[in-house]
This record gives sequence, C-alpha cells and structure tokens, in this order.
Amino acid sequence: MAVNKVKVSAPGKIILSGEHAVVYGYPEILSAINRRLSVEIEETVLGLDIQPIEGKSLVEYAVEMIKARLKISGHKNLKIRINSQISIGGGLGSSAAFAVAITAAFFEFLKLPRSLKKINEIAYEIEKKQHGTPSGGDNTVSTYGGFLLYRKETETFKVFSPLKTKVFPSIYLMYSGKPEESTGEMIKTVKDFILRSPKEAEKIFKETEKITRNFSRFLSGEELNFGGLITRNERLLEQLGVVSVKTKRLIQKIESTGGSAKISGAGGVKGDSGIILAYHQDPKVLIKLANEEKIDMFKVKLGERGVRNEKN
Ligand code: MEV
Repeated sequence: MAVNKVKVSAPGKIILSGEHAVVYGYPEILSAINRRLSVEIEETVLGLDIQPIEGKSLVEYAVEMIKARLKISGHKNLKIRINSQISIGGGLGSSAAFAVAITAAFFEFLKLPRSLKKINEIAYEIEKKQHGTPSGGDNTVSTYGGFLLYRKETETFKVFSPLKTKVFPSIYLMYSGKPEESTGEMIKTVKDFILRSPKEAEKIFKETEKITRNFSRFLSGEELNFGGLITRNERLLEQLGVVSVKTKRLIQKIESTGGSAKISGAGGVKGDSGIILAYHQDPKVLIKLANEEKIDMFKVKLGERGVRNEKN
C-alpha cells in the first residue's frame, strides 16, 4: 500500500560552446533539451527496492548524500523508480539530470519548500562523485532550464545567467556512439594536455571564450554565421584532443555537404565521441547522410524547462 508518492523530472542538456574550458574558469553556453529523466519515490510498507540507472552504488550514494545534506534519517521503505529518455554516457547530461531529479524528488517527498539553489548544490555534490572535478554547468542547466551562460569562478562561487534568446537554431543531434572514456577520464585527458602544453591550452581556451561570446550574440539576434561558429568550436576541441579519429571523419563528411558539426560535452578519443551537434541550412541533407551512415539522429528542442513535478 502506497502512503506517499512523488514524481519529478529533469532535462538533459547540450553544450553550444565552452565544454572543458569551463572546468578552468572560462564561460560556457548550455541549453536544456526536450529529453528528460524522471525519478519516482514511493514509500511503501515493503522493503527497500532501488532500481539503478548507472549502477546501484550511485543511486545509493545519492540517497545517502541527500539524506545527510537535508539532515534526515529513516524513510527506509522507499521504492525509487527511474525512467530516462537520455542516453547514458553520450554527452547529454544523463548523470546531472539524475542528480537533479532525485534531489528534487526528495524535496517533494519530504514536503520541503522547493529551493532550486539547494537542489542544484546537492546535485553538484552527487555529480562530483561521478566525475571528480566537474564544472557544475550540467546540473545547473538541468535545474534551471533554458539557455545559460555559465562560469565556475571557484569551487564555491559559480555564476550563471539565463540568456534571452531571439533565435532558436534548428539543431540535430547525431549519436556517434558511446565513448569508451567516462566524463571524468576526459576531464583528466585535458588536464594532462594542460600540464604538457600550458601555453597552447591557454590559447585554445581564450579562442573558445571568443566563440562562446559570439554564440551568445547570435542567440540574442545578431547576424552571425552560426555554422561557422560551430566549425571553429569543433576545431578547437580537436586541438584539445577530445575528439576521436572516427568522429572527426564523420564531422568532415558533414562539412563536405556544406553543414557543420561539433561534439557536445566531454567527447571521447579511443572510439566514439558521444553526441554530435549538427547543423545544415537544408536539414534533408543531414537526414540523408545519417541514413547512409546508419547513425541515430533526432531533432532537438532547445531552451526547455528545468526540473519540474510530474503528475503520477
Ligand atoms: C561535460 O558535459 C562538460 C565538461 O565541460 C565537464 C564539465 O563541465 O563538468 C567536459
């Protein structure tokens, strides 16, 4: 017999510009997307029955972390159900959506006043368990939704502001395949690159920052070449060493049809690089290419709502 039941969902994300650079204090632009993950919590008279998303330990860890941060104990007979439309480990922010949704679900379940700030802070702690030294951008956009310009100044001071968007670019997401490396490992790959070539890394990050600012100007209505910005952003990510040879080939094919594409998120070097953000003035060309290459592709809606309650 159910005595209390809540359901909360949080969106996945894409990064338009600034991934990796954001870990070192540079700005990034993210957008919440129309793919969501939901967490349902039900208190029953039965025992604990947790269904995992990325390994039981993460779910258990998240529950322990939330209970500790909210200073609560008890509530042993919880049934936690997770449903996701966000592919895991592909750069769409599945782990951040999980961290945000489960935290917000506990707020709802315990009938605590909803505080997006607190939800975001706890979700960030859960993200750290997964990725080591994340920037916090993924959980922030999953919490607040929309388009965000985000910057991590220090571990405890992060600034972000919603971007007023006049232009919603028509973007397709292609799935190059799940990277062999985790986000945490890719963050480490970049850290090693910085240690080896600090000057080159700084140059790449500074150039990335310029592009990020141009993306923001584009979104607010200035006439800038959107495809050109994507291509320049991709080249910098390639220089940073986060795009695999296989994915570079796919991106070159898209470019040879007059389109542009970039990885979005942590990337991957050994095999595939996760999700690719693709743009073409004539989307039919992309659809044809995705069919020929037998690649999953879908149109994505940007600027979607952040964490929200769902009806049971
Ligand atoms: C991962 O989605 C984006 C990275 O910049 C890492 C982070 O921001 O935590 C690679």
